[in-house]
Amino acid sequence: MRNKKVLAAGLAFCISLQGTVSCGQEEETEAVRVQVGVACYDQNDIFISELLECIEEEIGLLEEDSFQAAVTVRDGGGSQKIQNDQVEELIDAGCDVLCVNLVDRADPSEIIDLARENEVPIIFFNREPVAEDMLQWEKLYYVGADAKQSGVMQGELAADAVKENPQIDRNKDGKIQYVVLEGEPGHQDAIIRTENAVETLRNQGVELEKLSYGIANWNRAQAENRMLQMIGQHQNQIEMVLANNDAMALGALDAYKKLNRTESALPVFFGIDGTKEGLGAIQEKKMAGTVYNDKEGQAKAIAKLAKALVTGRGMENIEFENEKYIYLPYAKVTIDNVEEYIEK
Ligand code: GAL
Ligand code: CA
Repeated sequence: MRNKKVLAAGLAFCISLQGTVSCGQEEETEAVRVQVGVACYDQNDIFISELLECIEEEIGLLEEDSFQAAVTVRDGGGSQKIQNDQVEELIDAGCDVLCVNLVDRADPSEIIDLARENEVPIIFFNREPVAEDMLQWEKLYYVGADAKQSGVMQGELAADAVKENPQIDRNKDGKIQYVVLEGEPGHQDAIIRTENAVETLRNQGVELEKLSYGIANWNRAQAENRMLQMIGQHQNQIEMVLANNDAMALGALDAYKKLNRTESALPVFFGIDGTKEGLGAIQEKKMAGTVYNDKEGQAKAIAKLAKALVTGRGMENIEFENEKYIYLPYAKVTIDNVEEYIEK
């Protein structure tokens, strides 16, 4: 009895699918026009601004005669309240799918309620909501990367550098004196990156001594200030700077430049992201390594998922972890392979 029902339902589904296809064929000129609303936490964030460019480009690349997409980007300027209002405006303006880079990753409820009431699916990206919130509705997805992997890779890059260049241990005490520049407190990519970079260095047999750390919220100018303070306290004892992202590694470099420190008194610097300027610093050998945060891959995944969600076609070709997550892998970048990434 049950089987019969399933069979009947399946048959009805096939017929209705056929109906859609033949209807589409008859009206070949009728394009699907969709509006994609993108809300980001702060467009001044270098990695985010580069990622947004990729998202617009990738959505553009999916356009074809039968699929036209208009993208609207709004900048929350660091305020969750402003972002909530912007999402409401995007929905009122008729957007079909939302891509949301939350300001406060622990506070998505208002946005989720708005989206659910209006049946607009959300693809969160880069700032991962907590798992419980992702269960609030079935049309919530996340595209990002695995923070732990980026920390491990940064640690591996640093361990390789120490083994290949014994002069990094400038005072020859057998330990590497290091400082950390951390991203926003509470961000999934801050603490996890630091912990895993340090643990990986230790596992690889590198003896470490932590001199200090500074929180610089992903920001180059803040990192320069924090670094100036740390140099003030520790002078030329600092042998390594582990930064949670490239912008902060570059800010640390700015601090040394400001103080006119000679090359031989500089620590080694490691970042994460592979931003344009970060890759430039690797090429110029100012930064020893970075970990590529695959913005092209993330943007492609966001675009493909957005299209599948609004057209109802192609979801079966997308691979999810836990049904709603897509994580793109990181990659290590040094002087040996930086050209590959500059060309991207
Ligand atoms: C991280 C990235 C940082 C910053 C942050 C914003 O993944 O490495 O540079 O952009 O996201 O959420
Ligand atoms: Ca040392």
